[in-house]
Amino acid sequence: MTDTKEVGRSKSVSKNSVLFVCLGNICRSPAAEAIFKAILASQGLEKIVRVDSAGTSSDHIGETADQRMRQEAHKRSLYIDSIARQFTENDFESFDFIVVMDDSNKEKVLSLSFTEEQKYKVKKMTDYCCEKFSDFSSVPDPYYGGQQGFSLVLDILEDACFHFFEKEIRPS
Ligand code: 4NP
Repeated sequence: MTDTKEVGRSKSVSKNSVLFVCLGNICRSPAAEAIFKAILASQGLEKIVRVDSAGTSSDHIGETADQRMRQEAHKRSLYIDSIARQFTENDFESFDFIVVMDDSNKEKVLSLSFTEEQKYKVKKMTDYCCEKFSDFSSVPDPYYGGQQGFSLVLDILEDACFHFFEKEIRPS
């Protein structure tokens, strides 16, 4: 919901809610949520911008994030505490940005949209990668791979989340 918020003398954020979406909501999107919350906290904006994550599938509803992802995040002092939930049509009204991890997530989310305004809210995470990971066209699904896949996901998400913050959220 767009609602401009003052964050200091003559500074404000006009879009202040972000939902990260992947398939299961136990690996990629909870990690993006944790990384983005850490960025917001480093800027003193954790109470100004609302962040959540969701999955397009119902398979893992109610579960904590995958142990392998939590372990990898812990090495970077990131704590993932989200509980999986499924994306719903109502999320289009509740969030300014809906940031998906891959084309399949995007297709599923868009299939639930009705208006151009809703479609416009849907962004792909890797479109914000600017550095080493700008060649990636999606955040790869690490679920069936080894531990290094989780580390790669975190590397990509750190790059993408930082530039997403700079482009879309940083108060002006
Ligand atoms: P996520 O990863 O979409 O990043 O949470 C996955 C989690 C579970 C499954 C696939 C991907 N799964 O097939 O159960």
